[in-house]
Amino acid sequence: MSQKNRILSGMRPTGPLHLGNLLGALANWVNMQDEYDCYFFIADWHALTSDYENTSAIEQNRKEIILDWLSAGLTPEKSTLFVQSLVKEHAELFLLLSMITPVPWLERNPTYKELIGELNNKDLSTFGFLGYPVLQAADIIIYRPYGVPVGVDQAPHVEITREIARRFNHFYGDVFPEPELILTETPKILGLDRRKMSKSYGNAIFLSDSPEEISKKVSRMITDPQRAKRSDPGNPDVCNVYDFHKLYTDPHTVEEIDEQCRNAGIGCVECKQKMAQGLIKALAPIREKRAYYEQRPELVEEIMVEGSNKARTIACETMEVVRAAVKIKN
Ligand code: TRP
Ligand code: SF4
Repeated sequence: MSQKNRILSGMRPTGPLHLGNLLGALANWVNMQDEYDCYFFIADWHALTSDYENTSAIEQNRKEIILDWLSAGLTPEKSTLFVQSLVKEHAELFLLLSMITPVPWLERNPTYKELIGELNNKDLSTFGFLGYPVLQAADIIIYRPYGVPVGVDQAPHVEITREIARRFNHFYGDVFPEPELILTETPKILGLDRRKMSKSYGNAIFLSDSPEEISKKVSRMITDPQRAKRSDPGNPDVCNVYDFHKLYTDPHTVEEIDEQCRNAGIGCVECKQKMAQGLIKALAPIREKRAYYEQRPELVEEIMVEGSNKARTIACETMEVVRAAVKIKN
């Protein structure tokens, strides 16, 4: 029997997933399902690190993300899909790792420094927020995976994870392999307003959007800002709509659009409509699967519970080894 390498990754349940999430993470995960033994989980405890004051949305977001995952093509037949808070062993390992993690490692973490600066409307001077990467390290190494597929923004966290694993091994013996960073490509598309696509900017196209919503949103998209009038020639190279075309329209038509845009042979309204058609068509299989799973909430719940049970079995095995290594009673 050929043994596939295990990989693991997670997402915080901060809201419904959009095209940026699909292209940046989820589509990669879906594609990795055949090559790897995949573990994907919802990091609901991590959602608390910044949203501890108002936790009311976490449960609903968790449900939405599961639907997004299954709609996009993650399947329990190939992957283990689970919920962090259903595997309490993550918390035990987090505690043990917190004992050996030097605080300066965490204070140096670029993500930490960035977010503290960005989210200045929230009080993030908490122990939990500083310890975010320690919990993430526990999430990862408890499954002793070969690697962690993440976007470049998460690279510092994987690096800290490797350092913590090394330090643990140094004190207590070889327990944890250092997980590889598997960098996934980040999408080339922007939000409707040409800023980074993000739920909080209100510029996102969600996987759960209906064809009508998609059409409406696409018609709002900012195109080549220099092209003011229909009779002005445009420049597809600086146009976000054109970047979408490259992903969702057949190559022959994309070439035509390139040419017609440059000599004002096509207007942006028509161009956007064409793109919306392609996008709506590309997302059709996702909408179909969503309709299927939306009708079956018990099945969806069962998938996550069974996945969590399977994950817990592995986590428990690791913790036996860990407790023995640390010489804390099993
Ligand atoms: N920090 C990750 C994010 O914000 C989520 C996450 C938590 C994660 N634990 C993880 C990702 C373990 C990979 C592996 O996207
Ligand atoms: Fe962009 Fe299309 Fe308008 Fe050209 S015609 S600027 S590619 S939307």
